[in-house]
Amino acid sequence: MAILPSILLFLAVSLVTFHVSVLAGDADILSDFIPPTNTTVPPDGAYFTYTGLRAATDPTIPLPPDFKVFKASMAEFPALNGQSVSFALLTYPPGTVNPPHTHPRASELLFLLEGSLEVGFVNTTNKLFNQTLEEGDIFIFPKGLMHFQYNRNEQTPAVAVSAFGSASAGTVSIPSAVFNTSIYDPILAVSFKTDVATIRRIKYGLSH
Ligand SMILES: *[C@@H]1O[C@H](CO)[C@@H](O)[C@H](O)[C@H]1NC(C)=O
Ligand SMILES: *[C@@H]1O[C@H](CO)[C@@H](O)[C@H](O)[C@H]1NC(C)=O
Ligand SMILES: *[C@@H]1O[C@H](CO)[C@@H](O)[C@H](O)[C@H]1NC(C)=O
Ligand SMILES: *[C@@H]1O[C@H](CO)[C@@H](O)[C@H](O)[C@H]1NC(C)=O
Repeated sequence: MAILPSILLFLAVSLVTFHVSVLAGDADILSDFIPPTNTTVPPDGAYFTYTGLRAATDPTIPLPPDFKVFKASMAEFPALNGQSVSFALLTYPPGTVNPPHTHPRASELLFLLEGSLEVGFVNTTNKLFNQTLEEGDIFIFPKGLMHFQYNRNEQTPAVAVSAFGSASAGTVSIPSAVFNTSIYDPILAVSFKTDVATIRRIKYGLSH
């Protein structure tokens, strides 16, 4: 009967789809939410509220002088545990950069609130997809791919909000992960087809 192969194909496709959807984000939880772990008192609305970005959004407080990320992820806001979402507020003074980095556990949806921003990501075959965003634009950085943001404007700051498809997206900063860890200098020299002195100069610059 021809129906058996169809059923097997259906099962195979379902398993693959199921597998992919399971890997697509944080693990599902089997309760409405994860209550606080440091108390047995049932949570109220305050537990589901994060107020840590009030100062960062206060227009009377000047922006920090360097590029800065204000995170609202599970580490800062424990109620996000199990909810597969988080936020970051990003502020870019004129001429500053958010250096190339990846988020191993989430894609990032960036919404530019103020200023303009050059953004880009590189796919797994090293093709650059870049854009210059204007105020109000939204850009998606696919999960795990290396990306950056640069405020080329020398006069005006840029401010963006990013949403992540994980409560704990994680960040691997390329400059820090490669040059600001204790990977043996000759390994880096060979990897970058240069000499140890050049590697040490880069390392020195990053750690000061
Ligand atoms: C539990 O931890 C949260 C987040 O760190 C903190 O805000 C809260 O005050 C703590 N509660 C108690 C009862 O220690
Ligand atoms: C990366 O993008 C290029 C250009 O669109 C495309 O040819 C290539 O297949 C992409 N690589 C992957 C792994 O998607
Ligand atoms: C994309 O990057 C290229 C190479 O750096 C640059 O010449 C171009 O202006 C950028 N495009 C946008 C839209 O920012
Ligand atoms: C490099 O490491 C040093 C020491 O751990 C740290 O102070 C510095 O902020 C790091 N620099 C970067 C760019 O991560």
